[in-house]
Amino acid sequence: MKHVMPIADRPPIIMQRGAGSYLWDNNGRDYLDFVQGWAVNCLGHCPPEIITALTHQSSQLINPSPAFYNPLMLSVSTQLAQLSGLDHVFFTNSGAEANEGAIKLARKWGGIHRDGAYEIITFTHSFHGRTLATMSASGKPGWDTLFEPKVPGFVKVPYADLDAVDAAITPRTVAVMLEVIQGEGGVIPAPHSFVQSLRRLTQQKGLLFIIDEVQTGIARSGALFAHQHYQVQPDILTLGKGLGGGVPVAALLAKDQCSVFEYGDQGGTYNGNPLVLAAVNAVLQAITAEGFLASVHHHSNQLQTLIASRATEWGVTECRGMGLLLAMQFKQDVAAQLVKKGLSNGLLINAPRPNVIRLMPSLRLTESEIQDFDMRFSLTQQGIS
Ligand SMILES: Cc1ncc(COP(=O)(O)O)c(C=O)c1O
Repeated sequence: MKHVMPIADRPPIIMQRGAGSYLWDNNGRDYLDFVQGWAVNCLGHCPPEIITALTHQSSQLINPSPAFYNPLMLSVSTQLAQLSGLDHVFFTNSGAEANEGAIKLARKWGGIHRDGAYEIITFTHSFHGRTLATMSASGKPGWDTLFEPKVPGFVKVPYADLDAVDAAITPRTVAVMLEVIQGEGGVIPAPHSFVQSLRRLTQQKGLLFIIDEVQTGIARSGALFAHQHYQVQPDILTLGKGLGGGVPVAALLAKDQCSVFEYGDQGGTYNGNPLVLAAVNAVLQAITAEGFLASVHHHSNQLQTLIASRATEWGVTECRGMGLLLAMQFKQDVAAQLVKKGLSNGLLINAPRPNVIRLMPSLRLTESEIQDFDMRFSLTQQGIS
């Protein structure tokens, strides 16, 4: 362990195997996983179709170089364009890199169409990644003083405050970048009217509307893309996490009017390689299969009903979110304690805020796993809330 760079306070266990909603450590201990690699394993751990897709693809072609088309680059970008209604797709290795691409694309578009405008309006408590530009774009408390100097060109306004957005628009503004549900910020869905008015405002002012769905896309919210709950369409959309079902891949999508990269503006050694896109293809087939979204809704309702029935006992003051991106809020700052005790009770949960527990289980969650959650969380919260 001493040679692993210590960037996180990891418990002294080693995760060795995963299947569906469960993980096993080096002592053979099982964990009900309601984090799923921070919502990346949308089909659970090691789903059979991803194993098959990777096994098959690794014997055919792993990486011909991004300088060439490959069959999956063509078919998966077509599927994503058709599902989202956007036109062009650029595959990246992480959500941060997809957002970095969105920022570059907006700046390039501003250079061409808005007299060099480059500023992007983002929101307090937003999270867009850990590269320098995406950290600069994020509104995570405490990040404003880290790794100075920051990348300039981001103006932050309070989340879901339309007047604040309007007031922040200047001739330098090129885009607004939004998470329709703030994930890392504590699972906060933006109000319906705000998202619709913001879309109208960006259109009136001639600005690009960028939606970061790295966390909320790919059926996590119960719709293929969370912005569909709001009946709006972005000009630029970023996807990640669930897109590869645990395999590292993300994507930047754009409408053709703002898809202005010229040759050489954007790229990367691993972008669009067929190995990772075989996983994306398997994920897209799974989430578009008949009944998949209905099942996410059904199990979301079951989980929310359970939480509501246990609210007093567990000390939950609010349950919020959409689909299988849910949060339980507590009166006191007990989330870190719950995460720690959950681990010792074989339950993996996450604390995006001191009083918030976030749940992002496999989208293939079952009723018996919800019952298992009930048992393990009931044990976990005893003596805490
Ligand atoms: C909304 C959002 N954007 C971007 C990112 C960054 O993605 P990645 O960790 O793949 O770089 C995340 C990660 O949590 C996220 O939730």
